[in-house]
Amino acid sequence: MCGIIGYIGEKNAAGIIYNGLKRLEYRGYDSAGIATLDEKKGIQVKKDIGRVEDINRKLDFLSMDGTVGIGHTRWATHGWVTKENAHPHVSNNKKIYVIHNGIVENYQGIKSMLQGNGFNFYSETDTETIPNLIEFEMRKGKDFEQATKDAVKQLDGYYAILAMHEGERKIVAARNGSPLVVGLGKNENFIASDIPAFLEHTKTVMYVHDKDFIVLNGNYEVKFYSLQEGREVSRPIHSVDWSIEQAQKGDFDHFMMKEISEQVETVQKAANQDESTLFAVANAIKDAKGVFFVACGSSYHACLSASYIFSKIAKMHINVILASEFSNYEDYLTPQTLVIAVSQSGETIDVLDAVRAAKRKNAEIISIVNVVGSSLHRSSDHALMLNTGPEVCVLSTKTYTAQLAVLALLAHTVAGRYEEGKARLKYLWNIIYNLTSASTRDHIRRLADKLKDKEHIFTIGRGLQYPTALEAALKIKEVSYIHAEGFSGGELKHGTIALIEEGTPCIVFSSKETEMEIISNAMEIKARGGYIIGVNSENNEIFDFFIKTPDVGILNPITQIIPIQILSYQLAVLRGFDPDKPRNLAKSVTVK
Ligand code: M6R
Repeated sequence: MCGIIGYIGEKNAAGIIYNGLKRLEYRGYDSAGIATLDEKKGIQVKKDIGRVEDINRKLDFLSMDGTVGIGHTRWATHGWVTKENAHPHVSNNKKIYVIHNGIVENYQGIKSMLQGNGFNFYSETDTETIPNLIEFEMRKGKDFEQATKDAVKQLDGYYAILAMHEGERKIVAARNGSPLVVGLGKNENFIASDIPAFLEHTKTVMYVHDKDFIVLNGNYEVKFYSLQEGREVSRPIHSVDWSIEQAQKGDFDHFMMKEISEQVETVQKAANQDESTLFAVANAIKDAKGVFFVACGSSYHACLSASYIFSKIAKMHINVILASEFSNYEDYLTPQTLVIAVSQSGETIDVLDAVRAAKRKNAEIISIVNVVGSSLHRSSDHALMLNTGPEVCVLSTKTYTAQLAVLALLAHTVAGRYEEGKARLKYLWNIIYNLTSASTRDHIRRLADKLKDKEHIFTIGRGLQYPTALEAALKIKEVSYIHAEGFSGGELKHGTIALIEEGTPCIVFSSKETEMEIISNAMEIKARGGYIIGVNSENNEIFDFFIKTPDVGILNPITQIIPIQILSYQLAVLRGFDPDKPRNLAKSVTVK
């Protein structure tokens, strides 16, 4: 979590950093700050709590001088949301400025050591130890670069760090576990947590590896050093094909609705896989002795759906494990195990930790990932890309259905039915077009009006629709803050039905395959006063509100979630919340 960006060039740094921070806000948005270095005025800092645009209205970031700078948008880990805890943090001698994403696990020990050497601390953060540790190392006679290298080597935990020193026209950076990517321009360079931060300036990038130390100097050179190898190293230069339009809202009020609408195309793009990689992955699945899907949040729900698809299409059992629970299964891993890690960002720390554990056992790693060059992408043996372009809204929408599309195609490929799988996914185009049309949105808006003041919403489904019920509940609660819970249709009566009372809404996902049983479950709810919202190909007399989704069999998980993505969006808007940045959340969860 937290977004960081640095700029060195010939233009005003504050303007570039400010725009970059707005694009990084999906990573954290409780406070923000910028430091710029001007040859005459020295280093200036502005920071405060709140959203980047609100802080700018108050403090006017854009008036800051200088052509070198660093900026940070925060998702609090250590210390409450206060101006003092906002980044950049400065050393006691007021010369070294640091921004940081991650957690310094041994900060208490470092802080005590520094306090013992006369350093004072003014925030509750772990980050404040870093500029002071650099100052401590500089007091031994080292220059800024060497002192920062030696300071970084003392840090435990995951971090991405940018630092500046008074009077030196350079930015130094280091990474371990938290994302960092360099953008190369003409007489200017960038370094940030993610590519959209500088995408409007350059598409030429270099990915930073763990334990890399980087210097962006005043001659517009970028030098990479390996802290482990203790020498300068070279890193490949890549060109990214994301467009800036993909990272902008266009005519939409919010990224969330834009990204929901994009699913007409993104499901098709996801189904357009490099065939040699897809077949290699399918063969690896067939050859493996034990296959694990590992993921978090919505990506986990996509995996759960896919386990049903694999069972039905490829007649295979896949173990589906929450990445944060994966360590409990480590004893079962062997070199014949195949781990398929699914992640939009490719930076979710629980997923990366699971992959590290699997690698220790020499298991093969496949990733299904959206962000090219992400840590997961780079650490896997084969990668299938989601191809959706950047997803800016904190909520997964288009990447969730893209994950489902890739996994469904993979199941068909394993079963020797690749062409059929591709054709079935292609057929969804028209259906998704209708499901995201203005008339569907108007219809769902009427439902949102009815539900906007409810305290609880339940969602149920059976078989393939069970993971859809889980995902629907997650979408509703994370953006509208209405409590929502998803169940298998058969489970509600084992306890939760006690919560159903007059008017309690329950969304019932149904299909030709599951209709008989799920309608019985819906009747049990209706008999206790529940308000039944049916998502199905055919209306049913027990539905109080009906959302039609044509039955597409095994691919129902892709289409049936879309109306509930729209409902979640509309509930958030009607209740006055920003759907793109729900409270307490960050898009990429890079802390444990
Ligand atoms: O980047 P990842 O796919 O690894 O992220 C996993 C979850 O953090 C993510 O799906 C999260 O649950 C979203 N808030 C869902 O909308």
